[in-house]
Amino acid sequence: MPMILDDPALDGISEYGLREALLALRTERNAVFLAHYYQTPDIQELADFVGDSLALAQAADRTGADTILFCGVHFMAETAKILNPGRTVLLPDLDAGCSLADSAPADKFRAFLDAHPGHTVVSYINCSAAVKAMSDIICTSSNAVRVVNSLPKNRPVIFAPDKHLGAYVQRMTGRRLVLWDGVCEVHVDISADKLKLLLGKHPEAKLVAHPECPEHILAEADHVGSTSSLLDFVQRDPAGTFIVATEAGILHRMREAVPHKVLIPAPAHANNTCACSECPYMKRNTVRKMYTALRDGRPAIELPEDVRRGAERSLRRMLALG
Ligand code: 13P
Ligand code: SF4
Repeated sequence: MPMILDDPALDGISEYGLREALLALRTERNAVFLAHYYQTPDIQELADFVGDSLALAQAADRTGADTILFCGVHFMAETAKILNPGRTVLLPDLDAGCSLADSAPADKFRAFLDAHPGHTVVSYINCSAAVKAMSDIICTSSNAVRVVNSLPKNRPVIFAPDKHLGAYVQRMTGRRLVLWDGVCEVHVDISADKLKLLLGKHPEAKLVAHPECPEHILAEADHVGSTSSLLDFVQRDPAGTFIVATEAGILHRMREAVPHKVLIPAPAHANNTCACSECPYMKRNTVRKMYTALRDGRPAIELPEDVRRGAERSLRRMLALG
C-alpha cells in the first residue's frame, strides 16, 4: 500500500470531524500524543503532553501506551523509539529532520572521534541514533551545563553537534571543549541588527534566548535557557514585555500562560517569509498527517538493534542524572 501522508480523501472532512476521528483512533490504538513546543497550536492543543526535548524524552520513557505519535522532528521520535523498542513510534512526516542532526553524519562523526582519542563524548540530543551510539552521554539544552559539570575535571571532552550551545556550555562551565562545527539554521538566522532596533524600540523589554543562538545574541539576553526554561522565565519575571529569541511555536504556550504580557518574536533575516523564526522541519507535521500516521501505522521509526542499544546506553546516562 502506498504511503499517504496528506490523504486528499480527507478534504471533505471538517477540522472538527478530523479532530474527533483522531481522538477516537487514539483511544482505539491506546496511543499517546507527545508534542514539542515548536509544533503548530492545533497540534499542541491535541497533545497529551507538550514539552521541551528533555521532558519529552522523560515522558516517552514513562509511557504505558502501545503507540507513541511523536509530533516533533525525527531525532525526537527516534529518541522515543530508543527508549521504547517494544512500542510503535510514529512521526507524522518522516521528512521532519533537523539541521543540527544532519550536520553530523555517522561516518564523519566516527572519523572526528578517531582524530580525538581519549575524549569523553557529550552529544546534544539533536543528533541521530548512530551518533548517540558513539557518544558517552547525551544532553539537552536544559541540562547541558549539568552534564558537562558531572564529568571529571581532568577529562578532555568533545561536545557535538551544536557549536553555539557548546560555546555557551564552555562559558558557563569554564571548561575547554572540542566542538563539532554544527548549527541550528533557525537560531543562527535571527538577525542581530533587527534585534538591536527592536530592543531600542522597546527599552522596557527583556530578551530571552535559546542557547542555540550565537554568542552575540546571547550576550544581550536577560535569560538563556531551553524552551521550558524560557516559558518558565516569562511567567516568573515581573517584566511586562519580552522579546523571544527562539522558534516562534513557543509563543503559543507563552501567550496562554501570560496573556496580559507583551511577547514579541525576535526577527529573522529579511529573506525569511515570516517576521519571526520558524523551523521548517517542525512545521512539516499537520493534524491531517497525524491522522493518517495513526490510521495507517506509519511512518514508523525503526532502528537496527545494535545502534538502538548503544544509543540507549548514552541516553540513560543522561536520564539517570534526573
Ligand atoms: P529544547 O531542548 O528547548 O526543546 O530545544 C530543542 C530544539 O530543537 C531547539 O531548536
Ligand atoms: Fe533542529 Fe533548529 Fe529545528 Fe530545533 S529549531 S529542530 S535545532 S533545525
